[in-house]
Amino acid sequence: MQIDVKIGRIGSEIDTNVIIGLFKGDQLEETDSMVMESALRRYLHGMLKLGDFKGDEQEVAVLYPCGQAPPGRVILLGLGPRNDFCLETARRASGIAVKRALKLGVSELSTAVHGLDVPDFELQECTQATVEGLLLGEYRYDCHKSAGPERTRLENLTVVIQQRAQANEVRDGIETARITAAGTALARDLSNAPGNALPPRKLASAARKMAADSDLKCRVLTRKDIEKERMGALVAVNAGSEEPPRFIVLEYGEPSEDRDTLVFVGKGITFDSGGISIKSSGGMEEMKHDMSGAAAVIGAMQSIAMLKPPLHVVGLVPATENLPDGKALKPGDIITALSGKTIEVINTDAEGRLVLADALGYAERFSPAAVIDLATLTGACVVALGHAASGMMGNDEPLQERVRKAGETTGERVWPLPIWKDYHDQIKSHIADVKNTGGRWGGALTAGAFLEKFIERPWVHLDIAGTAYTESSKSYCPKGATGVGVRLLVQLVRDWKP
Ligand code: BES
Ligand code: MN
Ligand code: ZN
Repeated sequence: MQIDVKIGRIGSEIDTNVIIGLFKGDQLEETDSMVMESALRRYLHGMLKLGDFKGDEQEVAVLYPCGQAPPGRVILLGLGPRNDFCLETARRASGIAVKRALKLGVSELSTAVHGLDVPDFELQECTQATVEGLLLGEYRYDCHKSAGPERTRLENLTVVIQQRAQANEVRDGIETARITAAGTALARDLSNAPGNALPPRKLASAARKMAADSDLKCRVLTRKDIEKERMGALVAVNAGSEEPPRFIVLEYGEPSEDRDTLVFVGKGITFDSGGISIKSSGGMEEMKHDMSGAAAVIGAMQSIAMLKPPLHVVGLVPATENLPDGKALKPGDIITALSGKTIEVINTDAEGRLVLADALGYAERFSPAAVIDLATLTGACVVALGHAASGMMGNDEPLQERVRKAGETTGERVWPLPIWKDYHDQIKSHIADVKNTGGRWGGALTAGAFLEKFIERPWVHLDIAGTAYTESSKSYCPKGATGVGVRLLVQLVRDWKP
């Protein structure tokens, strides 16, 4: 897609299709500073006086101002109360606009930057959010439709600003949005891919291809390597599957004295049937998304490679299916993770924490300043927070605060959950070092407590079970994978101070 910056006023004849966001109560008086041509402003001012368009969030109207040559459309968006504006407002508005535009068959759009005159928000971030909403809202997963894609794609986008002095910040915002949207689209593609299209081998080749195209290092451990590394938990979860496991290592930059190392770990269960502790069949198809943590890590690594921050970043993905079979892991089995700790398996459906135990152990060898894992880990987390936030646990307050902030900025919200000693007590085993479930209550927290036993460095765990995919289309995300985590990780990296 071509994205241009135009300095001028929106509504001059070259903008055939323009997106304009209005706050609740905006009247577009002559005195209001607007990036808008005066004839168009007058027209909208008159229209607003009728009171039909309120400027409520999610409100949208398509107008056809007369006298414009050639005739064009104005897609008017409500941004809600000015005081409530945040970057997510801009993303959502853009997502709604692009959906409407594509339905109309429009492939060329001009847009104002939403929120640009709101105090406390910078032009760069408002531009980034506005463009992210458009790019992410345009995303579709239609590669399995035999008739091929049947819809309009956005081909040309013009961001209209008033002053030349704003151009650099706006270009920077556009560029960043392109990078985060591409990483997110990759993550969505991987997560949306059905289990038969993307077993661990294919997930690894997708990572490898991305790495080759992005100038990242990539190492893929096969079953033999995994056994040699003594990743007993990954091997055990894989035992019921005909598809061999993979352990993916992506690396950006090099370790050095003056650069921190960050390690991102993503749960890569390409399909989770539950194993011998088999799940009920209702909704089981959604468990193709059980590698959304892996998808987020791979997508974020692509974005990071493009952004080139002064850091050393490692992405780790333990990948396997979780299936029942004659050789499958059984309840009661005791396995040994990479760290040497023994685990009594109570429920084979609590497989994510098992493969993460090995990956967190592996992360230690990089002596990272921070380890962040992302995993569709527990249904209990969805019970606790619904789809509005990912659950955050960890062993380091300052790191959690950084992650929280990154979540706030990107609209990928996280909410803190505790890992108290009580939860550790729930997962004591009488026969091994730890057991893999802690009973019915506090399921997200006992999972967090379990993971904490396998990592010594500063660490944050994000349970994305409720945020990784959506059952219905959202403003800038169609039904299916959301790509959650990519933008949060990228923001964390961009804000990172040693
Ligand atoms: N992948 C699931 C968790 C999940 C549930 C993700 C719903 C997305 C939506 C995970 O492997 C799992 O099965 N967890 C069990 C743990 C239990 C057996 C302790 C769960 O949450 O029921
Ligand atoms: Mn499971
Ligand atoms: Zn799972």
